[in-house]
Amino acid sequence: MPSHDVLIIGAGLAGQRAALEAAQAGASVAILSKVHPVRSHSVAAAGGINAAVKVTDSWESHAYDTVKGSDFLGDQDAIEVMCREAPGEVLHLEHIGVTFHRDETGQMDARAFGGASAKRTFYVADITGQAILHVLYEQLTKYSDQIDKYEEWFSTSLILNEDGSCGGCIARDIRTGQMEVFNAKSTILANGGAGQIFKPTTNALICTADGMAQAYDIGAELMDMEMIQYHPTCLVSNGFLITEGARGEGAHLINGNGERFMSKYAPNKLELASRDVVSRAEQTEINEGRGAGPNKDGIYLDITVVPKKRVHEALREIVNIGKDFSGVDITKEPILIRPGQHYIMGGVRTNVDGQVPNVPGLYAAGEVACVSVHGGNRLGANSLLDTLIFGKRSGAHAAARASDIPMPQAPTSRLEVDRKKLEKIISRERTGRRISEIKDELGTTMNKNCAVYRTEENLQEQLEIVRRLKEEAKTAAIDDKGTIFNQDVLGALELEYMMKTAETIVLGAIERKESRGAQSRADFPDRDDEKFLKHFTFTESDSGPVLGEAPITFTKWEPEVRSY
Ligand code: FUM
Repeated sequence: MPSHDVLIIGAGLAGQRAALEAAQAGASVAILSKVHPVRSHSVAAAGGINAAVKVTDSWESHAYDTVKGSDFLGDQDAIEVMCREAPGEVLHLEHIGVTFHRDETGQMDARAFGGASAKRTFYVADITGQAILHVLYEQLTKYSDQIDKYEEWFSTSLILNEDGSCGGCIARDIRTGQMEVFNAKSTILANGGAGQIFKPTTNALICTADGMAQAYDIGAELMDMEMIQYHPTCLVSNGFLITEGARGEGAHLINGNGERFMSKYAPNKLELASRDVVSRAEQTEINEGRGAGPNKDGIYLDITVVPKKRVHEALREIVNIGKDFSGVDITKEPILIRPGQHYIMGGVRTNVDGQVPNVPGLYAAGEVACVSVHGGNRLGANSLLDTLIFGKRSGAHAAARASDIPMPQAPTSRLEVDRKKLEKIISRERTGRRISEIKDELGTTMNKNCAVYRTEENLQEQLEIVRRLKEEAKTAAIDDKGTIFNQDVLGALELEYMMKTAETIVLGAIERKESRGAQSRADFPDRDDEKFLKHFTFTESDSGPVLGEAPITFTKWEPEVRSY
């Protein structure tokens, strides 16, 4: 039975950074992931990572921009921690081998990003996540005597000890179907977000809310779940991401009438307002009949205004994406985009050390977590930063906790619970709807009813849909009855996780009867600080999600009118 001081579930940037920190603190570490670590969703992060590295910048300015970007829902103590520690982290990455872009003087170069009052986004062309992920993976090999890697293992549930703490997880080896108990003194969830609840999404197929649902199952709170980010530039054809780096380099947004319309919505920042503002502006143009393209359901992103040499140097990945997925040479003609689901600001509630308040021994970092540094709207390029800062802090705290306590031993009967659950799924009759059909209906309806603009009517309709699909998911047909790479059975578990999480997203959006950040209620168009300057939380009960509230932490910045 594997036993480790620190078990990390998920091996993207948050997980790998946590592993590095915990190993450096002397802990024995297991890093377990349902995909090979360098195929984690962090690999898709394109545009860069924010940090006030330059002498002309300050962490306070970065923090203020982040607070304003969050529409004053972010916790300011956590935002301060993140922005204060950002320069040190970016320099650490540079020292361990991340080849950040340099300017002509040899200094690390920064590009502009949305909602930022300075150029502070450091980048490796438009493959920044991939570059960092590979360097961290190399670094972990230095600690191979301390870190065991379980690649292509699927965590099926978290273990709740009798004293209410978390004692590791049960997992299945995807290659063989073998199941194991992983005992751990500290367990860190770093298994990403929930984008697959929406269709289309920029998120990888693996982003199925596993960590959120499993933590929720053992008593963790989910917080800020209604806050779903729509990224302003996703391909109309399939939702693929065109990096904000394009607008950072100067690209324009043009409506169907040929107008550069952002001056109406954000006269100072134009295309580089925060994401919620730009996505709303685009959606308004489309809704009011000024959309572009054959169906008038898109907006043109004009990258031809950026010098061609610079595009090939700094945006080369989207040159390929444009050609391969839209048949467009972005150096010669505008490309059709629209807002698309990209990120969830909410997740498992934690403190700044990644601890889940009501489940000792459980930590969360990265998109699965809600610290809450993003509040109502995340600034572009603050996500890589969040994964690394809170991954590192979680790793350090988890290792320190582990040095003081004995190893918990889950009874073998605990394994049987999950084994039987999976056997029951595998032995289902083939009469129910297919997993892909149910998932498709969930995604397309969420994208219709719980997207950039929301109303009570749409949200109530969506709640009914989610609850119906949640029941249908329980009998979804399973074709594969085998043990080797049985993605069908894992798909059934993922579907269950997505349904639980989707229910809290919709309930949160119904409850928040105001417009703040990414939550735009057409029926409540104003921000209402008197009633809604607070977080919503959900805990699980036998009768369904239980709504709670949590205060926002303010340090320096009082809420003010937010304009760009
Ligand atoms: O547009 C982008 O490059 C995405 C960055 C982010 O979500 O932080």
